Amino acid sequence: YVAYDKQVPFDYPERTWPGKKLQRAPRWCSVDLRDGNQALVNPMDSERKLRFWNLLVSLGFKEIEVGFPSASETDFDFIRMLIERELIPDDVTIVVLTQCREHLIRRTYEALKGAKRAVVHFYNSVSVLQREVVFRKNKAEIKKLATDAAELCKSLEGEAKGIDLYYEYSPESFTGTEPEYAVEVCNAVIDVIKPTPEHPMIINLPATVEMTTPNVFADEVEYVSTHLQDRDSIVLSLHPHNDEGMGVAATELAVLAGADRVEGCLLGNGERTGNVDLVTLGLNLLTQGVDPQIDYSNVPEIRKTVEYCNQIKISERHPYAGNFVFTAFSGSHQDAIKKGLEARQVAADRAGANLDDFVWLVPYLPIDPKDIGRTYEAIIRVNSQSGKGGMAYLLKTNHNLDLPKRLQVEFDKIVQKYADDTKKEVKDEDIWRLFKDEYLPV
Ligand code: KIV
Ligand code: ZN
Repeated sequence: YVAYDKQVPFDYPERTWPGKKLQRAPRWCSVDLRDGNQALVNPMDSERKLRFWNLLVSLGFKEIEVGFPSASETDFDFIRMLIERELIPDDVTIVVLTQCREHLIRRTYEALKGAKRAVVHFYNSVSVLQREVVFRKNKAEIKKLATDAAELCKSLEGEAKGIDLYYEYSPESFTGTEPEYAVEVCNAVIDVIKPTPEHPMIINLPATVEMTTPNVFADEVEYVSTHLQDRDSIVLSLHPHNDEGMGVAATELAVLAGADRVEGCLLGNGERTGNVDLVTLGLNLLTQGVDPQIDYSNVPEIRKTVEYCNQIKISERHPYAGNFVFTAFSGSHQDAIKKGLEARQVAADRAGANLDDFVWLVPYLPIDPKDIGRTYEAIIRVNSQSGKGGMAYLLKTNHNLDLPKRLQVEFDKIVQKYADDTKKEVKDEDIWRLFKDEYLPV
């Protein structure tokens, strides 16, 4: 990770523009094993689930939604296995999802027998559309579904003896709901559960479908945050999806607006366009100098496991994880990166300090690839669009050849012709071969 107290290699002004900045990471909850899993063509079997679970635990997730045990026998069995084989570390809390329906809630409690700590997460749809079209119930009737579920949960606590039990309630389709009504329902649930600051409950606001701009979502979250009763006893959570492609932005604004916790999936798996991407959220914090509290120091390994478990490939352009995100194709970018890397080295040498003691300030690269387990290898690539900078950089770093300017111009013509002829990216070995053929004939 970057150390947040690193030296600055040159006079680099503090960012001074006004505006709030995230100061610390929210509480994270991975819903990969539930929301992510339910959106897969081939849902995970127990082997893939266990592998995903192990990844989440190793990364440092302390809250993991492990399934919907009343809806899926695989989920039920998986939860039983975690509990019976004692695979849940003491500092990790499992979350189980249920609809607000009696038989489903009862089955959920059966799944939890013997757990040390758990969250029962109950939800019902409260949006205008769901009320009118799907359930044909009025506001009072919909609210009653939620409070009845809360009462049933309380009455089942006897069956959950020995479990340090918490509750989470989601007014599902919050984004299609009048915020005033969402608050009314949540407050009614809070009245039943009676959380305390010592034993809080989670109120989770799902952008089940993302349908507003991030600022509007953040305003709605702020409204709930300031109108919920017993706010000190509530952990206000977000559950954003990404239908308009703004899940990350909406989440960041909504955390600034008062949310304490975020649910999402690694690399953005999930229904339709996905749940909000926890890796991007965490690493965006890191680029702002805030510790994400999750170990994202080996993104390639995370990606490998996520791709294996979900059986979905991550796009080349995916923030932080895609193959191309530390690759500069443009000559001017390559040149700027080269200068940035050199400036860092010069500053370190001058100070007699280690390169890693300096804050990362390199044009076009918002983060040091090394901090997330990636390498510089592919940063400089040469193709028919790039200028001579990339080629010169490769010759210098890989072959210790510092070409004078005029020779750079001359040799670049040869490299560009090769790129035009082959219509491919020119690899380091191609450049070296062309150079040897031209200037070092045997
Ligand atoms: O997207 C959603 O609304 C959900 C809820 C069940 C929390 O996944
Ligand atoms: Zn969801």
